[in-house]
Amino acid sequence: MQALTHVDTVRPHLEGPDWWRGAVGYEVYVRSFADGNGDGVGDLPGITAKLPYLADLGIDVVWITPFFRSPGLDHGYDVADYCDVDPLHGTLADWDELAAEARRLGLRLFVDIVPNHSSSEHEWFKQAVADPTGPYRDYYLWRDPAPDGGPPNNWVSHFGGPAWTLDPGGSGQYYCHLFLPEQPDLNWANPRVMEEFAEILHFWADRGADGFRIDVAHGLCKDPAFTDNPQHRPVTPGMHPMDVFAAFDHIHDLHRHETAVLFRQWRTAASPQGSVLLGEMDTRNVERFAEFVADGTALHAGFVLQLGLGEWAPEHILDTMLEYQEKANGGCAWEVSNHDQARAVSRFGGGEVGLRRTMAISALMTAFDGMFFVYQGEELGLPDAVLLGHVEDPMSARNGEGMWTRDVARGPMPWTSGPLNGFTTAPAAWIDTAALPPELTVEQQRDRVDSTWHAYRRLVGLRSAEPALWQAPFELMRRDNNCIVLRRGDLIVAGNLGVSAVEVPELLDASIVYESTASALRDGVVAPESTVVGRCAH
Ligand code: GLC
Repeated sequence: MQALTHVDTVRPHLEGPDWWRGAVGYEVYVRSFADGNGDGVGDLPGITAKLPYLADLGIDVVWITPFFRSPGLDHGYDVADYCDVDPLHGTLADWDELAAEARRLGLRLFVDIVPNHSSSEHEWFKQAVADPTGPYRDYYLWRDPAPDGGPPNNWVSHFGGPAWTLDPGGSGQYYCHLFLPEQPDLNWANPRVMEEFAEILHFWADRGADGFRIDVAHGLCKDPAFTDNPQHRPVTPGMHPMDVFAAFDHIHDLHRHETAVLFRQWRTAASPQGSVLLGEMDTRNVERFAEFVADGTALHAGFVLQLGLGEWAPEHILDTMLEYQEKANGGCAWEVSNHDQARAVSRFGGGEVGLRRTMAISALMTAFDGMFFVYQGEELGLPDAVLLGHVEDPMSARNGEGMWTRDVARGPMPWTSGPLNGFTTAPAAWIDTAALPPELTVEQQRDRVDSTWHAYRRLVGLRSAEPALWQAPFELMRRDNNCIVLRRGDLIVAGNLGVSAVEVPELLDASIVYESTASALRDGVVAPESTVVGRCAH
């Protein structure tokens, strides 16, 4: 493998309190990134060993999915202790080493906080069940049954079935859970819960976290009257839980104005240490999204998740990007996929077509306001994993095999063409996926200058090399169905997501700064499904 050539410890584009605006992030799905101790599951020492790899790729921020103490029923998103590391992923000392190495390399770290729910194994929930009159009862959402004895309202869980389960303590009440029954929702109307989380933020910021990804940020506050959600589509037997969930308008259990107000308290809690708050926000209402990231008072930014969910639909993609750019106060974090979604290359048509489209939209994202994130393996052009064993994702495992599963995005990172793609020295990885061919491994791609990895490295490096891309005023010069042309300072960015070549006279005399596909610009014409960044001569 080629020696490291480009480890920048100084990142001038990340200076000042608004440093995150120009940053490129990378999501590490901890279970599948790198296994340091050879037990088949990714861990913190594994990540530490690979930080130079991420620095070499040009990444600024590493977001690590939850590694806290957890029964692991939703692979870490069911937290039993927010201030300790699960033995499966290492120890607090391992975290400290990771943070020190990140510091040495100039990388920043985002910890993934899960505040919508805890694990049912968390001490708070155990106490809440054991003592219905005690102080922890009100940490969770309890309601009496409906008159027929059933759940208190029609809310459904993202993972199938009602969002309510009977109190195991026998009180006769139900508790609310928007995910698994083992993930009881916290009661954010109780100010004690904010106090607890303020301490959790301080704990990790003191230990080197620069910011937080806030899981299900759009879900924290619920309607105090627990009103039924309107239903706009029938629910039929055998439907995928995601489709059942989408049959309702989630106006009472998610996306509440109260959550925007609450985020001001989060901001106050984060301010002393300057932590950046980045919400996972599946909020399609752009006005509400903007409220969640209201400039300077609520969260710094939120993920625009929908571009990672749909299929290739250029007009819709451009509409969405422009709408969020215009209305979200610069508080966007752009991504084309994450650990909950099919991989972009597969979703956008597979093979070279899927890769070309993924690169075109990713390059365009780097020229929009806000952060830009790469999901692990995207830099290699990975397609969805081929699953060999049983399903691990609880969303599908609990609703019957054969349903679409998030496992396709969670296969081990292919480091080498050795056994288990060099992810682990164990005889098996925690998830059973088909080995990836040598040409999709880090080992081969780092050695080939014409590889996807090198193309990503150029893409990732754009923001530091050309700060005008995110600092200069955003000027939409033209929009023509599937193509947009922007100006940012002396840079012209043309994103042609359509199937025909488009003439962009503004690029005629421009010098090429970046092309998402080879020779995408010829005589002022931008090739189909390509993004070009050029520098104006005048
Ligand atoms: C978020 C996470 C997902 C998890 C869910 C419940 O959407 O990204 O992986 O299952 O929250 O915590």
